[in-house]
Amino acid sequence: MTRLGVNIDHIATIRNARGEVFPSVIEAALIAESNGADLITAHLREDRRHIKDKDLLLLREVIKTELNMEMAATTAMLNIALQIKPDFVCLVPEKREELTTEGGLDVIKNFDNVALMVDKLQSNHIKVSLFIDANEQQISYAQKTNAYAIEIHTGKYAKSKDNYYTQPEYLQIKNMVEYAHSLNLTVNAGHGLNYHNVAPIAQLPHIHELNIGFAIIAQSVFYGLPSAVSQMKNLIAKDLIHSQYLKSGLGENKKITTRWTKCPERVIFLFLTTSRFQRQGVYDDFWNWS
Ligand code: PXP
Repeated sequence: MTRLGVNIDHIATIRNARGEVFPSVIEAALIAESNGADLITAHLREDRRHIKDKDLLLLREVIKTELNMEMAATTAMLNIALQIKPDFVCLVPEKREELTTEGGLDVIKNFDNVALMVDKLQSNHIKVSLFIDANEQQISYAQKTNAYAIEIHTGKYAKSKDNYYTQPEYLQIKNMVEYAHSLNLTVNAGHGLNYHNVAPIAQLPHIHELNIGFAIIAQSVFYGLPSAVSQMKNLIAKDLIHSQYLKSGLGENKKITTRWTKCPERVIFLFLTTSRFQRQGVYDDFWNWS
């Protein structure tokens, strides 16, 4: 089953907005774990705008699942990772002025540095994934670094408005997941995924893990964190059924409507995710009885 990594950065964003000690990222991680998170993801940015070093140290001690530390490929970050010893490090590009991570790491341009970081981390039993665009050359260089995994950047795909299955970005991701799998890379994905666009990605064969943050924390404002995490987990798990359906020979270009009508749960989901029903709490009830 596809694993769900819950990124808790934006719990820290809220905490830091008032210079407070709450909401606690530790509490958030524990709630996420007890509601279906398979791992906890946190990005230690160079400007420390959300997660702080101390958060990671505490998370390392307290969480019962696995810890995935996202970080820039710098010596300063490497030293922190070696001290914290997360289970995974995801190397990401980082620019101070960006709102969030924009675009994947350029493994080709930074090959020597990335390969060195992978070697240092993996020889210290920290598995490394490289956050990259769905690009064949980047993937083949990622494999040459010996990284255990790649995380495919889904940001561009996530911006498409509807009919996700026919978007060029989706088809590109689908092909690149296959390609990376053929190179024996573990394939994760993330960025911009939400309750509406996660299913087509989750149901791709060979997707191992999805890392999702903003949408879950945003949803938790209205429905609470336990519900926000379990709803996402349900969506990912439910799609196992649908992926069997996809694999059963119906080609990618068949009309999306056929798929939706053949999957009644999805029709109900679409219906219940309209804001009117969300306000009435019907959406939550759906998850309780489905
Ligand atoms: N994966 C990586 C590598 C990221 O940098 C981020 C954002 O920190 C995410 C996943 C999660 O993205 P989002 O918050 O849009 O779900």
